Amino acid sequence: KNYFKLAVLPGDGIGPEVINESIKILDAISESFGYQFEYSYGLMGAEAIYKTGNPLPDETLKICKESDAVLFGAIGDPAFDNNPDAKVRPEQGLLRLRKELGLFANIRPLKTYPSLIEKSPLKREIIEGTDIQIFRELVSGIYFGEKYTDEEGQYAYDNCKYSREEIIPIVHMAFREAQKRRKKLTLVDKANVLDTSRLWRKICQEISAEYPDVTLDFMFVDNAAMQLILNPKQFDVIVTENMFGDIISDEASVIGGSIGLLPSASIGESNALFEPIHGSYPQAKGKGIANPIASILSTAMMLDYLHLEHAAHKLKESVEHAIENKYVTVDLNADLHYSTSEVGSFIADYIRYSEKSYYN
Ligand code: IPM
Ligand code: MN
Repeated sequence: KNYFKLAVLPGDGIGPEVINESIKILDAISESFGYQFEYSYGLMGAEAIYKTGNPLPDETLKICKESDAVLFGAIGDPAFDNNPDAKVRPEQGLLRLRKELGLFANIRPLKTYPSLIEKSPLKREIIEGTDIQIFRELVSGIYFGEKYTDEEGQYAYDNCKYSREEIIPIVHMAFREAQKRRKKLTLVDKANVLDTSRLWRKICQEISAEYPDVTLDFMFVDNAAMQLILNPKQFDVIVTENMFGDIISDEASVIGGSIGLLPSASIGESNALFEPIHGSYPQAKGKGIANPIASILSTAMMLDYLHLEHAAHKLKESVEHAIENKYVTVDLNADLHYSTSEVGSFIADYIRYSEKSYYN
């Protein structure tokens, strides 16, 4: 197959800027490798609320359901963050899309780049060589449980609920990934307090019998938050519930030096969505300073998902080339830095140039 329908949702804040660079890259990939990508743009988030009143318009959902994969930028707007009474919120669009597409596994890879080690606030000897895959459950738990605020605003609750069926698939996925890597899987939970965590533990223990070559261990989330900073190299694959995964993946992003580098893939039975883990970064909107690499590496994860491994490999190599040559945005080099679109063009040109010289 070399024709793919892609849904493109730029979203809010710096989303449109970083997505532009991903499209630039895909154009270079399509020229160099002969694939065809058809892009259908959709509104989501605060943008969509302003234009339609709905954070996930039906038209957007339709585009996504008909696509081979979804590329997504970012979501969020301070106008809503500062107003706890807002009934319609940008984030609802993303949460509903995850649910509608059944994107149960959010995969967040983390590694260090040799030339960026000094950018991390953590010490070289602690982080050098870190290579972690976080598998975060994405369509259940406290994010999707029953929620309520009483009329007088005196109390509120959010229910955290997990069923066996919701836990099993992502645990298998994480075990299979560990098998391909250093064969260690850590469940991050709070089993000393939460029933849902005890269910996760039980299921992980049962499933581990099918993966005798993988060592399974357990870590409480508070301790994991500390261990990620003290000794990140102890981790190989981490599997965890929705909210713990949200929190520890932002925390872990400091290991790589910039949250602007980290991609993610959200995978379901029959669709998948790819997004940078950084948010909408409203302070940077329109300034051309946002790091496009997280979005570009998310695009590489999409190429892998579409079984275009050769192109994905070339793209990752091109990103590394840009980083090693310090062709980066201001978050990674305060002295000599390039704009969002300069970094994107540099990577796109490298793909075109190196593929050509390879074939000629
Ligand atoms: C993320 C984001 C989202 C989440 C928000 C925007 C709803 O923080 O993808 O990590 O909490 O899942
Ligand atoms: Mn998050």
